[in-house]
Amino acid sequence: MKSDFFTYQAQTSPHPLAMEISHANGSYIYDSNNKAYLDFVAGVSANSLGHNHPKVVNAIKNQLDKYMHVMVYGEYIQEPAVELAKLLAKHLPKPLETTYLTNSGTEAIEGALKLAKRFTGRSQIIAAKHAYHGNTMGSMSVMGYEERKQAFRPLLPDVHFIEFNNEVDINTITTKTAAVILETIQGGAGFIEPINDYLQKVKAKCKAVGAVLILDEIQPGFGRTGKLFGFEHYNCVPDILVTGKGLGGGMPIGAFTASKDMMSNLTENPKLGHITTFGGHPVIAASALATVKEITESNVMTEALEKEQLIRKKLKHPLIKEIRGKGLMLAAMTPSADITNEVILKCQDEGLILFWLLFEPKAIRITPPLTISNEEIIKGCDLILKVLDSIS
Ligand SMILES: Cc1ncc(COP(=O)(O)O)c(C=O)c1O
Repeated sequence: MKSDFFTYQAQTSPHPLAMEISHANGSYIYDSNNKAYLDFVAGVSANSLGHNHPKVVNAIKNQLDKYMHVMVYGEYIQEPAVELAKLLAKHLPKPLETTYLTNSGTEAIEGALKLAKRFTGRSQIIAAKHAYHGNTMGSMSVMGYEERKQAFRPLLPDVHFIEFNNEVDINTITTKTAAVILETIQGGAGFIEPINDYLQKVKAKCKAVGAVLILDEIQPGFGRTGKLFGFEHYNCVPDILVTGKGLGGGMPIGAFTASKDMMSNLTENPKLGHITTFGGHPVIAASALATVKEITESNVMTEALEKEQLIRKKLKHPLIKEIRGKGLMLAAMTPSADITNEVILKCQDEGLILFWLLFEPKAIRITPPLTISNEEIIKGCDLILKVLDSIS
């Protein structure tokens, strides 16, 4: 299987971890030798409720028995997609009331950028340095990391970059600006939180000049930071909200949500302003619906904040300089990329899954399922400490 993996499946990582998966359950993934790995990554923040959560699996199975794909996006009334969009509206502040469901996060970003351009009639997009919003052409255009995108130029024109949390840079937003796109908490950059009411200040400037604020909540969304949406911590409601990852409960999804009035711009001039065959797929929507219900009806969000404290209390070590982030979106910072690499690889050998962040090589990603138990957290943190001891 390993040689077939390297021969037939396209690779873009020079050194894939290449662990052969047998099955997964709760906070554990099992390899083909039945070795158990405690999962501190949750499929890069996607498996909010852990692996094969019974309520999510049942929702998928029930829907499978009824129907799968029947028609392209938005033509037929398919209950799981309608119920999901309705439930999102129930939990979102006004005017975020209408949701377009996509197949991935990056496609939702594309839709949000298109909507902002269409709504404002402007072309300029302002994004943040070190931002990550996905890997298709539009999303890559607003990625704030030149080294990773220069090979794919030309990308979207009229994209400008500001420094996240830099208040002076906010002046770059003018009446020429269609949209400012920001991650609520910068992910790939190293789990950088907005400070000093930064998001509110950006929103105020956008409002003053008639630009649209797009917040990318693909990572912090759906309970990961202890609230359903990260923006709730910073009192800033975006004009367009983009979500994905944890929304799907382990299934591929993305979504962008706006006011009914704004979203109606995708219906005319031109009609069919954004089209997808599989967006809003009933099986995936059923999975997401069960996931959002469970996140909002259980204690996982309040517990995420308690679990954050437990991790911060446990991970005290001379080689951990800082822990960034919020809730169960945490990054432990070591003094060097080499140490981070060693910790991640040695922990994997010891049966603990950790991972990197895209643009911050000193960061160890700790984004376990929200359902992880305190005992599992203690076990994983003890392993990290043991590996750090072996390094120091
Ligand atoms: C903040 C953010 N935006 C967008 C994306 C892209 O989502 P997807 O990989 O589902 O296309 C990601 C994925 O890592 C992300 O973390």
